[in-house]
Amino acid sequence: MDSFELNKVAGAVLGALLLAMGTGFVAELIYKPKPAGDRGYALPAAEENAGAAAPAAAKEEPLPVRLASADATKGQAAAKKCMACHSFEKGGPNKVGPDLYGVVERPKGSHEGFGYSAAMKAKGGNWTYEDLDHFLHAPKQYVQGTIMAFAGVPSGAERADILAYLKTLSDKPVDFPKP
Ligand code: HEC
Repeated sequence: MDSFELNKVAGAVLGALLLAMGTGFVAELIYKPKPAGDRGYALPAAEENAGAAAPAAAKEEPLPVRLASADATKGQAAAKKCMACHSFEKGGPNKVGPDLYGVVERPKGSHEGFGYSAAMKAKGGNWTYEDLDHFLHAPKQYVQGTIMAFAGVPSGAERADILAYLKTLSDKPVDFPKP
């Protein structure tokens, strides 16, 4: 091979390289994908206690205020949903749940002859109106491990009505806390 021929080969190789680079460059101009940016929507951070009851709870009046306008008759009607499991008469039988006559200020988990969950027996203290309000709002949150299979009463006004009804079920009704 003389140098002229070598030059031709070199030229051909260079040409091929240039062509390859050129097409690559043009192809990139045409096809280079633009960055897609963030996908989807930014979700708001999960709120604590997210759930159906949370927004209502946020603007709920404090219990003493709710109790001041509570209605025992409405509470008795609302307590129909408890009657599948509870009796409300003095000396009434334990059913799926314990009899609830005189439950206000009764020590938690103390009704004779009823087999409470370990969680309820361990809770401690008496059933104040405040505690009953929390328990009825979300039984499984207030007493983790309770065997009361009841979702709770989301409405604060309705819970106050039920507490007003429970207040009447006593030989010595306990006064409501003052607003
Ligand atoms: C599906 C059955 C069921 C329903 C419905 C139900 N309960 Fe209960 N309840 C129970 C059981 C079971 C217990 C015992 C819980 C435990 O030992 O953990 C209980 C416990 C209680 C206690 C604690 C009593 C104590 O002696 O410590 C209260 C107060 C109470 N229920 C109120 C209510 C009210 C008010 C309603 C209606 C709004 C209601 N429950 C609806 C089954 C039920």
